[in-house]
Order: sequence, then C-alpha cells, then structure tokens
Amino acid sequence: MKPALIVHGGAWDIPEELTDACKNGCQRALAAGWSTLSRGGHALDAIEAAIIVLEDDPVFDAGYGSHLNLDGRVECDAIVMNGATLHAGAVSTLHGMKNPIRVARAILENCPHMMLVAEGAERFAREQGIALCNPEDLISETEREAWLKCRLDKHAAEHHRGHEQGTVGAVAIDQNGNLFAATSTGGTCCKLPGRVGDSPLIGCGCYADSEAGGVSCTGYGEAIMKIVMAKTAVDFLRQSVVCVDSPHGASCEPSSAQLAAREAVHLLAKRTHATGGLILLDRHGNPGFAFNTPRMAYGYVALDGNFVTAV
Ligand code: GLY
Repeated sequence: MKPALIVHGGAWDIPEELTDACKNGCQRALAAGWSTLSRGGHALDAIEAAIIVLEDDPVFDAGYGSHLNLDGRVECDAIVMNGATLHAGAVSTLHGMKNPIRVARAILENCPHMMLVAEGAERFAREQGIALCNPEDLISETEREAWLKCRLDKHAAEHHRGHEQGTVGAVAIDQNGNLFAATSTGGTCCKLPGRVGDSPLIGCGCYADSEAGGVSCTGYGEAIMKIVMAKTAVDFLRQSVVCVDSPHGASCEPSSAQLAAREAVHLLAKRTHATGGLILLDRHGNPGFAFNTPRMAYGYVALDGNFVTAV
C-alpha cells in the first residue's frame, strides 16, 4: 500500500512570531519520517525519526525546550503504539532524557511491561544503552523565563492556558501496512512533580489499531483523559461517526478521517469544556486533523507526495 505520515507540534495559542518556526519543525519532521517510508522502510523507524526532530526543536513542548515542572525540572512523557498488536511502549516522568521516544520504543520492543516511570524507566534506558544527559541541558532560556513567571502566579494551574505549548505526535503507515502512532511531551508548565498527563496513557494521548487507524492528541491532559480521546477517535473511525449533538446518537455522515477527528474534538469541548486537538490516519492512510485552540501546528504527506504544513 501507499505509505502515509502525519505529524503535529501541538494545539495552543501559537503566537504569530512562532508560526514559521512551528511550520518548519513540522516540515523537518515529515522529511525525517518520509525519507524512511518513501524508501520502503518501516513505520516504527519513520515515526521515531519524526518525533526525534520534534523533541529536539525547542519551539515544541517535548525533549529539549519542554515546560518545567513546579521544581524547575524537565519531566517528560512519551508513548509509541503498534496498531497490529495493540502493544505500546510508554514512559513517564523521565528526567535527563533527550529523546524520550527512544525509551518508549525500547519498552515496546524489549520490555515485558508496557509502561515504566521515573527511576525505573531511567534504569531501563541505561540498560538498553540509551544514555541520559544532564537534566539542565534540556532547559531552554524561554522555558526558564516562563517558569519564573508561572511560579509567581499562585493560580498557575488554573491559568495554564497562558503557559501552554505544543506536545508533539506522529502517525505513520508503511508500504506493508504497519501502522504506528506516537506522542511525546514535557507536559504542562509548573505541573506538580510526578504529574502524568494524557500523552503517555494508552487510549488518551495516543492509540493505534490497524483495523481502524492511529491517533495522537495534544491539549489539556486532564481533560483529554476524561474522554479517552485517542481511543474515542479511533472508535469514531471504526464505526460510522456518531454526531455528538444528534438526537439519540443517530449516525450523521459516513465515516471519514476528517469527520472522526472533528467529532472527537467536539466531544472534548462538549463534555469537558477544554481545548485540544488531534491528528490521525485512518487504516487506508487518509489524514484527519482537528483542534479547538486558536492554532495547531501540523503537517502530512499529500497523495502527490508533497508535504502540506499549516499552523
Ligand atoms: N497534553 C499534554 C499534557 O497535558 O501533558
């Protein structure tokens, strides 16, 4: 089949002056993933390559440039999921890890468990030959300044919107039909140490099922968890999409990737009054995306092979 790839750099109130940087980041992530997929490579290699580009880019909230927690430390979460086996590898509250997606992949491939956190995840990473870095090396000046402001605000949690930035994600299908989805994040600014958001939780920040499609979410984790948004979107793909507002849940339109994405975000707004977004590929590789934030950074490879990016 024809390979497919979609990426995102988060749904938030992206200021005008950052739109080019966000677009460029998505473009480079697509290029990294597509160089593998277009040569017949595996979707897992492609998705890891795409996420590493996004984690390394300080304009996004993942890896280097992540938001800082209340103690002023970077604490990262990541997940990657295999749509064929429904197996996932996830990590949470990682310190000193430049590319958390690499640890998530190592868990997916080499661990009897699906999720490791904190010291246990760091020990597993070392055993897998993935080096830790100095945690200070993950802190960007922009984020240190944002943290200083956030820390002075006693109601930082309620005002998290002012400190939002983009979680990153990707979904890929290779020529053999292997489908993978992945999400990586530094979480919310001034989060309590030990806080786990939606991103590394299977079904919340990420889900993949080769029978339906793959999803990566972005937005306010505490709300996304309430509606298990990634799995909900995959279920919308699997069935004909149910209109959230239609009487007695009657079917609206025949299922389509774009409709499933919109309905999942619609449900987020309706049931939690929160903001967020998602990207997805249906099992045929059709892209879908939706958000109810002012902007979302995303990109996908169109049918003609051109990269489409938008903010
Ligand atoms: N969606 C990222 C987080 O809330 O952690």
